[in-house]
Amino acid sequence: MSDSRDRPSGSSDSPDNPGMETKWSLRRVVSADAEQVAAHGQWNEPASSARRIAYATWVRPRIESGAYVGWFAIQGEVVLAGAGAILLDWGPTRANPGGVMARINNVFTDVHWRRLGIARALLDAVLEHCEALGVQEFNLGATPEAHALYASLGFEAYAPEMRRRVPVRAA
Ligand SMILES: CC(C)(COP(=O)(O)OP(=O)(O)OC[C@H]1O[C@@H](n2cnc3c(N)ncnc32)[C@H](O)[C@@H]1OP(=O)(O)O)[C@@H](O)C(=O)NCCC(=O)NCCS
Repeated sequence: MSDSRDRPSGSSDSPDNPGMETKWSLRRVVSADAEQVAAHGQWNEPASSARRIAYATWVRPRIESGAYVGWFAIQGEVVLAGAGAILLDWGPTRANPGGVMARINNVFTDVHWRRLGIARALLDAVLEHCEALGVQEFNLGATPEAHALYASLGFEAYAPEMRRRVPVRAA
């Protein structure tokens, strides 16, 4: 799939390795990328986990339908980072009259490519795409290291949320 964001997007000196090739570009995620999307979402879990396979199986048709939108940062064929959003048919609210809410997820940058502005560029692409669809509310669960990034993009902590989790039974 081609997209207006399939274009060179960044080039800067690596803080760790001056002179290292740090050119990268963004491309839209396609359904064949489902496993890589799942790996980004489960970056802190074992590579062979059944959960990863389950997530890839779930997300593949949603990438196809547009219910999941995502971008990768790439250098050639190599995926350096990714970010995406699930579009939730939430219903109209005062703040979001269009009724579609976006849950940001699967935000990950390879350790060798951090602090080069890649996650910010990916999130800009995701936010811009969703806003063009009429989405006016975004939420996410943030890791401590991603807080400053999200805050700089306009996200703020929102205390009123609660949740209830039913314990998962072992299969
Ligand atoms: C969080 C993460 C995605 C950031 O990726 P990145 O490509 O390095 O982010 P960027 O270079 O676009 O950072 C943009 C800004 O975010 C902030 N930021 C990024 N990483 C940060 C860190 N570790 N500590 C503090 N601020 C940070 C900075 O303000 C940074 O701008 P600066 O480098 O000019 O100071 C990356 O560290 C990562 O993959 N971490 C593990 C997975 C994870 O936590 N994902 C988020 C799930 S909610």
